[in-house]
Amino acid sequence: MYEVLIIKGGKPLNGTIEVNGAKNAALPIMAASLLADSPITIRRVPNISDVRIMARLLRTIGAKVTFRNGNMKIDPRDVKNVRASYKLVSKIHASFDITGPLLARFKQVEVPLPGGCNLGSRPVNFHIEGFRSLGADVDFQHGYVIAKTARLKGTNIFFPKPSVGATKNVMMAATMASGTTIIENAAREPEVADLANFLIRMGAKIRGAGTSKITIEGVKGLSGGFEYSIISDRIEAGTYLLAGAASKGDITLKAIKPEFLDSFISKLKDAGQKIDMGEDWISIKGRPVKAIDISTSPFPGFPTDLHPPVAALLCIADGTSVIEETIFDGRFIYLDELRRLGAEVNTKNHSVVIRGVKKLSGAPVVAPDIRAGGALIIAGLSAEGCTVISGLDKIDRGYQDIDKRLAILGSDIRREKRDACRD
Ligand code: UD1
Repeated sequence: MYEVLIIKGGKPLNGTIEVNGAKNAALPIMAASLLADSPITIRRVPNISDVRIMARLLRTIGAKVTFRNGNMKIDPRDVKNVRASYKLVSKIHASFDITGPLLARFKQVEVPLPGGCNLGSRPVNFHIEGFRSLGADVDFQHGYVIAKTARLKGTNIFFPKPSVGATKNVMMAATMASGTTIIENAAREPEVADLANFLIRMGAKIRGAGTSKITIEGVKGLSGGFEYSIISDRIEAGTYLLAGAASKGDITLKAIKPEFLDSFISKLKDAGQKIDMGEDWISIKGRPVKAIDISTSPFPGFPTDLHPPVAALLCIADGTSVIEETIFDGRFIYLDELRRLGAEVNTKNHSVVIRGVKKLSGAPVVAPDIRAGGALIIAGLSAEGCTVISGLDKIDRGYQDIDKRLAILGSDIRREKRDACRD
């Protein structure tokens, strides 16, 4: 059996929903809990499969993890096993986030090279070089990264380009190093700042997270015994705003800071959409879509994760749009699926050229990765007729209850079980 989403397009979305906690904050914060000497409760954890896989990974190394109604309790006191399971790490890229905390706490760690969304090459050389600069010996054996150290020592690290993953991992490793670590050309994403705030609650001494220079003064130990509520998911919010625009709807998102989405919002306005916002809400009224050009870049630039979803909207723009992808060279596989829906999309070097059509037409499609799945849903909502999306395991990795939430907003969408033998 497998599941599909069936969308009858053409119904404008209407209403209000609250944005869930951020996947890309929840996963490293779960990993960071391994640094504590007592249990921690994390609130607003999204119930998505990446989070459930990370919880299983933490359990396999000895942590006690309970997860109910968005509240996750992690007790890391019995963690002893510093070798992570290939089966779990190969499923999600963020599982590699446990490397920094385990290295800091146990002075050794064995983690397989990570898997995750197929977005092209996703090396971890900046993480490795960062650990080495901190004084770890790092080796590769049989697909595993093996890192050991007598003691991590503060140092200056300059990343060749801003990497979210490497900034988080090295920042976590440096929290208990002796002396001061300075990370330059650090990633400035809000999720990096959220992780730093969580570490600060544990007793870490970190300044500058959210800027390109982060200073970490090593401390002897980190403590739990507190509750922490994670920030909202700006990529989920962006996906719903695009769904609102593509369906010519009128929706409001609560619990989201507009400054997380500045560059995205300004592009939506350029595309002719009516946006209103307050301190912690954003609303959109769908208008005829104008063609625009976009280049993805690290925060505060246009997020690479919103490239496929925005492409789905631009498929029905008046004119030709160009999206340049500067972060992940393999992010274009979703285009074949959009073509099935009648989109006129082509690649040119590192860009996708989208010639707007009047209407997309529903068809069976497969989600190749999380955000491409978001794109196919947006396209399906605007298309004429029925779109049947399979590959929901990908979509469920990053979007909690997306079918139920879109149904609340009035779309004609349902999840159905299918029998693979009868297809
Ligand atoms: C990236 C996104 C992040 C998004 C996440 C999930 C950026 C800057 N980061 O984070 O916003 O939420 O994907 O889809 O947009 N790189 C190396 N060596 C390394 C690490 C990274 O060369 O060791 C390169 C990557 O190939 C990429 C760039 O640096 O071109 C940024 O990668 P990174 O930010 O680490 O990716 P993620 O953490 O996965």
